[in-house]
Amino acid sequence: MFFYKIKTQEYSHTLVDFYVLDQVASATKLSQLRFDQNLLLDKELGNYSWTQENWQELVGAKDYLLINLVQNDGLIGLLLAKLNYQEAMVHLLKLVVTPEKRKQGFGIMLLGELAGFMESRRLTKLFLEVEADNIPAISLYEKAGVNKIYLSKNFYSNGKSAWKMLKENAG
Ligand SMILES: CC(C)(COP(=O)(O)OP(=O)(O)OC[C@H]1O[C@@H](n2cnc3c(N)ncnc32)[C@H](O)[C@@H]1OP(=O)(O)O)[C@@H](O)C(=O)NCCC(=O)NCCS
Repeated sequence: MFFYKIKTQEYSHTLVDFYVLDQVASATKLSQLRFDQNLLLDKELGNYSWTQENWQELVGAKDYLLINLVQNDGLIGLLLAKLNYQEAMVHLLKLVVTPEKRKQGFGIMLLGELAGFMESRRLTKLFLEVEADNIPAISLYEKAGVNKIYLSKNFYSNGKSAWKMLKENAG
C-alpha cells in the first residue's frame, strides 16, 4: 500500500484533498514535500512532536495509518494511528490541524475519515491518550463519541496527567 488520494471534497468553497498512507511499503511513495509538511505540522505538538528519525521509521513501518488533509498543496491536517488487527484496535497517536484552520470542522472531518477506514477494516475499538488539560482535543474526542476511561497521573515524562479514552464499536 502507499500514499494515495482518496477523494476531493468541497469545503467552504475550497477543495480539500484527502490522502491516506496505509501500511507503507516504501519511503519513496511519500513525497519529500509531503514528508516535510507532516514533520512541520507535527511540531505544533511541542514536546510531543517526533524527530525526523521517528518519522522516517514510520514510513518504513507496517500497520500505521496516516491521513492528510491538503488544501492548495498545503497540509492543513494530519492524523496518525497505529493499527492492531489482532485486537481490532486502533491507537490514535496524533491529530493536528494547522492553527489558522482550527475551529472549522477539520478535526472532526479527520476523525470521520478514520471511522470510515476502521469500518472498512473491521477495526472496532479506538483508543487514545490525551493531556488532561487539552480541552480542545478532549472536547473534540467526546463529540466524536470517544469516552474518558480513567485519568493516568504523571503519564507523560514532563509529569502531566493523561486521560485514557476509548470508543468501542467505532468502526
Ligand atoms: C484538537 C484539534 C485537532 C481540534 O481541531 P479543529 O479542526 O479545531 O476541531 P473542529 O473544528 O473539528 O472542532 C470539533 C469540536 O471539537 C471541540 N473543539 C475544538 N476546538 C475547541 C476549542 N478551542 N475549545 C473547546 N472545544 C473545542 C468542539 O466540541 C468542536 O465542536 P463545535 O465546533 O461544534 O464546538 C486542534 O485544536 C489542534 O490541532 N490542536 C493542537 C494539537 C493537539 O492538541 N492535538 C490533540 C492531541 S494529539
